[in-house]
Amino acid sequence: MKLAMVGTGYVGLVSGTCFAEFGIDVVCVDKDLSKIETLNKGGIPIFEPGLEDLVAKQVKAGRLSFTTNLTDAVKGADAVFIAVGTPPRPEDGHADLSYVYQAAKEVAALAEGYTVIVTKSTVPVGTAREVEKIVAQHKKPNVTIDVCSNPEFLREGAAINDFMRPDRVVIGTESEKAAQVMREIYRPLYINETPMVVTSPESSEIIKYAANAFLATKITFINEIANLCETTGGNVQHVAKAIGLDGRIGSKFLHAGPGYGGSCFPKDTLALTQTGQMKDTPQTIVESVVAANANRQYDMAQRVIKACGGSVTGKKIGILGVAFKPNTDDVRDAPALVIIPELQKAGAIIVAHDPEAREEASHHLSDVEWQDDPYNVAKNADALAIITEWNEYRALDMARIAGSMHEKRLVDMRNIYKPEEMEKLNFHYVSIGRAEIVPDGVEALRKVS
Ligand code: UGA
Repeated sequence: MKLAMVGTGYVGLVSGTCFAEFGIDVVCVDKDLSKIETLNKGGIPIFEPGLEDLVAKQVKAGRLSFTTNLTDAVKGADAVFIAVGTPPRPEDGHADLSYVYQAAKEVAALAEGYTVIVTKSTVPVGTAREVEKIVAQHKKPNVTIDVCSNPEFLREGAAINDFMRPDRVVIGTESEKAAQVMREIYRPLYINETPMVVTSPESSEIIKYAANAFLATKITFINEIANLCETTGGNVQHVAKAIGLDGRIGSKFLHAGPGYGGSCFPKDTLALTQTGQMKDTPQTIVESVVAANANRQYDMAQRVIKACGGSVTGKKIGILGVAFKPNTDDVRDAPALVIIPELQKAGAIIVAHDPEAREEASHHLSDVEWQDDPYNVAKNADALAIITEWNEYRALDMARIAGSMHEKRLVDMRNIYKPEEMEKLNFHYVSIGRAEIVPDGVEALRKVS
């Protein structure tokens, strides 16, 4: 079995490497020469725990290679996966499918024997049908090509484990022959009894958006319940735990926080609402989720301002974490990219730390003083805000932090500290969906203005 993976972004690189781990020969191809050069030198263009070692292992085993030459990659491939980017178009926010279509066209023209072209990128419903049309126009007359949608559900930061141990594999094709090739590719998982859902390309494409939109909805729901807890004296962690124990609800993705970010949920929720509008079947729940999540990120900045007595003008605000979540250097649509500029607009001086995302973030943020050590962020600060729950922030010496701050104010947007402990250290402690601790030791209910 031989595969080509077109696109060495997050999904392409992780999937290609994991397919090689399955024992398949994989050629990853990308038009970006510098990326391919980096990969060929053993470098990894993204930060993903465990990926570098796995790539090195598979390259050494001779199953994984990188090239800019599509002709070589497609030659003899049983399946060609398209995992190129689908960024939102600047003019209207719709997914830009031009890279997918261009790749399909080029692959179709090069294929010399039966080939399955697989769309792995997240693409709006109807894309596989379009790809079928493009393929029919550009393939060699004597070559049969089937098209298949095979969305990916891996999470950044846990990508390898998610790929190797997925909850399910979704295969969207009407060709039994293509489905058979896909089953063969995923055989190691099949043996582990991973459910395979074989369905139409349309259902497969909708499954990906529906899954992400549902998870984004779950997060937004618990964030709003957290607000209610704050104004009534509830504790969102207890609420989330108890509702999550109901098997129909499930415990995952019920952590209240500063709002979801990343390269997927914001883009996919928006794309789903746009598809709904275009097809005259509005996705009103997801529309509300998109709006509520945007508000939430602004609201987080307001919490910091409120904790500082209503003004941050000239105040030093320490920020811990700018990545959209831990174990990644990705800052795409990260809450920090809204919160920090809002605080700056209100006159705050920002000092920040992130174990991995500092460089990425510095392309999007200006006038931030970056520190290599979280303790230096807290030094002389008027408030400290934890935006990303990196493990190294969970075990900070909070007494040391408290002792070094100008004002002991902590806005813990990920609830990684215990209110009782912060109270003992005399922090003015603001967390999410739990009672606010004010310095005189009195618990206060946060009044949402
Ligand atoms: C998400 C999905 O979880 C993957 O299944 C999917 O494959 C991927 O999108 C994609 O479409 O490519 P990812 O964006 O890597 O994965 O990150 P998540 O771990 O899902 O987190 C997304 C955001 O939700 C983060 O900002 C995170 O902090 C936030 N979140 C997550 C919460 O605020 N609370 C939670 O309980 C869970």
